[in-house]
Amino acid sequence: MFALTGASGQLGRLVIDNLLTKVAPSRVAAAVRRPDKAADLAALGVQVRLADYDRPETLADAFAGVERLLLISSSEVGKRASQHRAVIAAAKRAGVKLIVYTSLLHADASPLGLAGEHKESEAALTASGVPFVILRNGWYTENYAASIAPALAHGAFIGAAADGRISSAARADYAEAAAAVLAGESHAGRIYELAGDTSYTLSDFAAELSRQSGKSIPYKNLTEEDYKAALVGAGLPEIFAALYADSDAGAAKGALFDDGRQLSALIGRPTTPLATVIAATLKK
Ligand SMILES: NC(=O)c1ccc[n+]([C@@H]2O[C@H](COP(=O)([O-])OP(=O)(O)OC[C@H]3O[C@@H](n4cnc5c(N)ncnc54)[C@H](OP(=O)(O)O)[C@@H]3O)[C@@H](O)[C@H]2O)c1
Repeated sequence: MFALTGASGQLGRLVIDNLLTKVAPSRVAAAVRRPDKAADLAALGVQVRLADYDRPETLADAFAGVERLLLISSSEVGKRASQHRAVIAAAKRAGVKLIVYTSLLHADASPLGLAGEHKESEAALTASGVPFVILRNGWYTENYAASIAPALAHGAFIGAAADGRISSAARADYAEAAAAVLAGESHAGRIYELAGDTSYTLSDFAAELSRQSGKSIPYKNLTEEDYKAALVGAGLPEIFAALYADSDAGAAKGALFDDGRQLSALIGRPTTPLATVIAATLKK
């Protein structure tokens, strides 16, 4: 039996799609905090189980009979380390034999503010004694693609990553890797640094966007502070604006770069090119 938390999220749904190409739906448990909102998952034939990180009492039933668990990191920044500890403890009690955790690229050395909770979660996992695999996921290209609409509206692509090279990949690439590891063999104990095959700067991103849209969209580099202020001005909550600005400042120092090509090795194909994600976004 396979289970994944965060099954209702964007990555989780893509992992399920991939997993169902490898195993029967009856062997997949989609652990979600709102089963009433997961009718589409139930329609796939997978078992939908209640699992709320903040209600540890729900986790024991969610993981009953599960051999392999994918713990998709929570989206609730600031609460994640304790939420993940609760999941790991419940999985251990339930007798789960392998936990696969989605961490952050180079989590052990990353200057990103996001790294702290991932480091704590990785430490909890290694201390648990349960066999594990750590998938240190790099940036989703979709994170930057989300800025395409505002960039087209304002005639500039803004950021604070300067000339930092970014080895992002499509969310679907990371999902395929997670399904491959979950259903595969010989991964226990491995820590994978997952990133796109090719890297780009945000100036490269803006140039490709300009080429595809037929509009001149230059990249405008801001200080971390000014970028955060611009994001707040655009309506982003302060905490997310700070996180994005901090991540871009980290990218300027190379924190989102990796050339190990472990992601394409895991999925057995090249990662999705930047141009493909931009084209898909422009079509929406
Ligand atoms: N590598 C990157 O570039 C990048 C970017 C963004 C996020 N991430 C990380 O990767 C994870 C997956 O990405 P994503 O795009 O799939 O994010 P997402 O769509 O926001 O999905 C997050 C999932 O976490 C679940 N969740 C949040 N709080 C929970 C709780 N208390 N109990 C149970 N489940 C809870 C959500 O459930 P609901 O559906 O009920 O809300 C959702 O299923 C994120 O959560 C985040 O940790 C990585």
